[in-house]
Amino acid sequence: MTRSPGHYLECISCHSRYKPTQIYSCPRCGDLLQIVYAYDTLRERFKASLNKSTALSVWRYRDLLPVSARNAVTLGEGGTGLPKSMRIAGEIGLGEVYFKNEGQNPTGSFKDRGMTVAITTAVEMGAKEVVCASTGNTSASMAAYAARAGLRAIVLIPRGKIAKGKLLQAIVHGARIQEVKGNFDRALERARTLAESGRLYLVNSLNPYRIEGQKTLAFELWDQLRKVPDVVILPVGNAGNISAIWKGFWELKRLGVTSRTPRMIGVQAAGAAPITTAYSKGAVSITPWPHPETAASAIRIGAPASWKKALRAVRDSRGAMLNVSDREILRAQRTLASKEGIFAEPASSAALAGLVKASKLRLVTRSEAVVCVITGHGLKDQGSVEAAM
Ligand code: F0G
Repeated sequence: MTRSPGHYLECISCHSRYKPTQIYSCPRCGDLLQIVYAYDTLRERFKASLNKSTALSVWRYRDLLPVSARNAVTLGEGGTGLPKSMRIAGEIGLGEVYFKNEGQNPTGSFKDRGMTVAITTAVEMGAKEVVCASTGNTSASMAAYAARAGLRAIVLIPRGKIAKGKLLQAIVHGARIQEVKGNFDRALERARTLAESGRLYLVNSLNPYRIEGQKTLAFELWDQLRKVPDVVILPVGNAGNISAIWKGFWELKRLGVTSRTPRMIGVQAAGAAPITTAYSKGAVSITPWPHPETAASAIRIGAPASWKKALRAVRDSRGAMLNVSDREILRAQRTLASKEGIFAEPASSAALAGLVKASKLRLVTRSEAVVCVITGHGLKDQGSVEAAM
């Protein structure tokens, strides 16, 4: 079956429903949208698909994706490794810890899971040009998938604030680069304005189609472990990924694949932590940080677009939000590379730094199965290693 399942867009606040079109926020109240399926009619087909022997990949889960797999713009994303910790787990007082190695995706980060679906959607909707704001990885991924689809690509990046390797990726794949004075949040504002003209298709994670690709990480963990982990811990920047993975687990439960969901623990850099701050105060909304600062440039974000979805993911899953310092991040980068053989970029190393802290705080215990999401490859940001030497 290659036909895409029926779906509609629903506002996460006022619950207004919309037919699938090129909108990125609710026309009535302005809040974020999410994609909803007729779950009861999909249940058996999706469950059966999990028992098929097709290889792991984003498109293995086509029965729960909002585009037709027949049109898939793909480079072979998903199906990333899940090595079990050999040393670090024991050293930090934990037992069963896995690293979900998203650096193995075609452009070296988890963004490819979302981008294969977002660019396929762009083609299905007839777009000729795609745009994103980025701290580096989204732009690298979008540029590659746009090249694959024959679409023009425009990336908006904060001037001087993204890792060189990521910028080179966007350039070599032929994207037009626009440098924005200021930080990522300014660049995203600009990208949203450009997309409002309707000519450019926006593929940042506020686009609910991208979230659909990224949620497949949850399905893949189920396939690899044949159980739901107790805890999933990951870095948080614009907050799309934690929202996406939580949606994936929520859907596994909604479809009766599992009765359990993991606790979601989000990790922010201490210099760019509006969501952790709101979480710690028990606040219902975040206060944006005007000048976010961290060595983990991928998550140097002060006004995360998906903060509301992220807070819900953390609260509904009875998880937590944590902060880690740049020192802790860079130490975790070295530890992960030298003790487990995994070279992660700083933002991704924040997940391990967070896990060290979570174990100390007893937010995670030795008897629990934990997945630490390593979001991007270390080779993208060699400067961070040089600077720390
Ligand atoms: N890890 C890496 C390596 C990232 O590149 C990002 C985000 C995150 C974690 C955080 O994920 O935003 O979904 O909470 N990078 C975006 C970009 C912002 O433009 O590449 P998030």
